[in-house]
Amino acid sequence: MTIIYESKTGFTEKYAKMLAKITGLKAYNIKDFNSVKKGSDVVFLGWISAGRVKGLKKALKNFNVKAVCASGTGRGPEPNSATFVKNNNIEGKEFFYLRGGNKPIREIKGFDKVILSMFLKMLKSKKDKTDDIIEAINNIESGVDYVKEENLAEVVKWVNKQIK
Ligand SMILES: Cc1cc2nc3c(=O)[nH]c(=O)nc-3n(C[C@H](O)[C@H](O)[C@H](O)COP(=O)(O)O)c2cc1C
Repeated sequence: MTIIYESKTGFTEKYAKMLAKITGLKAYNIKDFNSVKKGSDVVFLGWISAGRVKGLKKALKNFNVKAVCASGTGRGPEPNSATFVKNNNIEGKEFFYLRGGNKPIREIKGFDKVILSMFLKMLKSKKDKTDDIIEAINNIESGVDYVKEENLAEVVKWVNKQIK
């Protein structure tokens, strides 16, 4: 079993490296996918952009993805776990949500900034702002880091069961 990850701003990478340290598995950025045997068992970690796990398609094409960990800044997978799993075509695989983090929007560039700006505008236009929405607006504007080892507890438990 190997850890493969895709990370744009480093939060998912932090989780991947933490998971590697705790479990003793090796972690590779998906850019280096050629270093890992094609078709072998992997745990994949990717960041979420507009509900889709980035890098997942490439991982599914090249490896036997046993588990998917999606890192996002929401409180959980949107709109719920079952729909998220279905939308990402990973039914039947182990799925974990990891709360990641984001840089302040002023530090984000290119197409990602366009998507995020649209999302921010939509959130700000809502009349009745719930706590989740206010939190999301603040996170996008100011940046946030939710990465901590205890968030990996369930993933670690699952990995250890697979490799023992
Ligand atoms: C363009 C864009 C779209 C995003 N869409 C979502 C989303 O749909 N759901 C979510 O929870 N987080 C979303 N995020 C937040 C990232 O998934 C989160 O910051 C992630 O932990 C970043 O990981 P990375 O540092 O490894 O790139 C989005 C971020 C960007 C820049």
